[in-house]
Amino acid sequence: MSFLDTARIEAELSSSGTRLGRPLFLFEETESTNDDAKRAARSKMEEGAAFVANLQTRGRGRRGHAWYSPPGDSLYVSFLLRPRLVPRKIPPLALASGLAVVDAVAPLVGRDRLRIKWPNDVLLDEKKLGGVLIEASIAGDSVDAVIVGIGLNVHTKSFPPELSSLATSLAIAGAEALDRSTLFISLCRALEARIDEQVGGGISRTVEALAPLDFLRGKRVETEEARGVAMGIDGEGRLRVLLDNGSERALSAGEVTIGTR
Ligand code: BTN
Repeated sequence: MSFLDTARIEAELSSSGTRLGRPLFLFEETESTNDDAKRAARSKMEEGAAFVANLQTRGRGRRGHAWYSPPGDSLYVSFLLRPRLVPRKIPPLALASGLAVVDAVAPLVGRDRLRIKWPNDVLLDEKKLGGVLIEASIAGDSVDAVIVGIGLNVHTKSFPPELSSLATSLAIAGAEALDRSTLFISLCRALEARIDEQVGGGISRTVEALAPLDFLRGKRVETEEARGVAMGIDGEGRLRVLLDNGSERALSAGEVTIGTR
């Protein structure tokens, strides 16, 4: 028996007509599922394919950070998408993906304990539960493939010392009857709904759904370029910041930390 119940997943995704998660490729161990998905994209694999590992030896987060990926504990999954979008609309797919993670786990822990920290962190009780890494292959003005990589801490009971005050898991938060196959099915359905909504209808519904979950809103934030107060997310998925000099900036990328003063 493999670490996910592929027969049940296939049957349930097919009965709900869900495209994402099919076909499904499982790896007991891999370097990074995002790399597996990228290779498949180059070999013309169709949209929807998902790559899931039980253990990643070189799991990656944003900005070159490593993603803690021990065996058996979590979901490490990358979805291959081929959305018809112009390249500038790709990074905000991280917001739809983060929302999908919230939708998938909210029945287990309650939506009021969940937040999204722009642009890609999912927080539970103010600690990191999961993250999204979007990578795309772009040729000129057209997008060939988008990889949505999601790491979600499920059964993890303890983290290495450098992460223990920052990270949490569904198990730590007291979620019961955790089963990664069931979670994966919920994630596929939620991701498909949020991505289709954003690709088909623009980002406004995503931004609306994000507002009550926005962890940074009203907080002092610091980035490499700016310091000020986060004012929410704008109509292009950027973080609005009221700078200390009174002007407003919209940040489209960059590491945001909570300000200390
Ligand atoms: C972040 O918070 O910085 C993003 C973390 C993304 C981690 C996932 S785990 C599955 C996929 N494979 C990777 O190497 N990274 C993503």
